[in-house]
Amino acid sequence: MNISVILAHPDNQSFNHAIARTAVTQLQKNGHSVIFHDLYAEQFDPLLPSPEIPTETLLPPDVVKHCDEISSADGIIVVHPNWWGQPPAILKGWVDRVMRPEVAYKFLDGDQGEGIPVGLLKAQAAIVFNTSNTQPERERDVFGDPLQLLWKNCIFDLCGVSTFYRKMFTVVVTSTYEQRQGWLRKVEDVVGRYFSADDLNRKT
Ligand SMILES: Cc1cc2nc3c(=O)[nH]c(=O)nc-3n(C[C@H](O)[C@H](O)[C@H](O)COP(=O)(O)O)c2cc1C
Repeated sequence: MNISVILAHPDNQSFNHAIARTAVTQLQKNGHSVIFHDLYAEQFDPLLPSPEIPTETLLPPDVVKHCDEISSADGIIVVHPNWWGQPPAILKGWVDRVMRPEVAYKFLDGDQGEGIPVGLLKAQAAIVFNTSNTQPERERDVFGDPLQLLWKNCIFDLCGVSTFYRKMFTVVVTSTYEQRQGWLRKVEDVVGRYFSADDLNRKT
């Protein structure tokens, strides 16, 4: 299978980088082809310019490449920290520019965008790994767990990927080395479960 891994964290010593590395290694161990994007390292431009908003338009080559990759991905893994209950701006901008109409979703004939879109992504599953410094109960009860709503409802369900798994590793700031090693084993386990070595639908 072709799996796209998208990472948004500016520090390559961060736990987010460790999560992404672990996910990529596990995918490769299981025989999958991985397309890995470290959005900060490649200095992805998150600003959606006005000419890119119309559905029919000429896109810059780097955006075309991202769009082609996400359209053809059999699986998607996103890794980012919780910043104000949101992804870092660079990843929000990646969503704005790459998860675009006729790539990730479309509206039916006669629907100018007021109706319910049809998802176009063919990925069989999407996984989101997050990190934060908030206790899970507080994230859920006080903040409403906005990242769950965003990634599951607003993005992956809408774009046609209904098999969805998300894990928030927390509290990072007070975590021990052993705890973080345990979290990385969890990453291996989840990635192995959703994108296993003996997946019958493998396309490698
Ligand atoms: C701009 C910014 C905003 C943040 N907002 C939150 C937040 O809303 N909730 C939270 O629990 N942690 C927040 N944090 C803390 C990060 O989530 C935390 O440092 C990160 O998940 C730790 O992972 P890392 O070691 O890979 O950076 C924020 C950090 C930054 C830099």
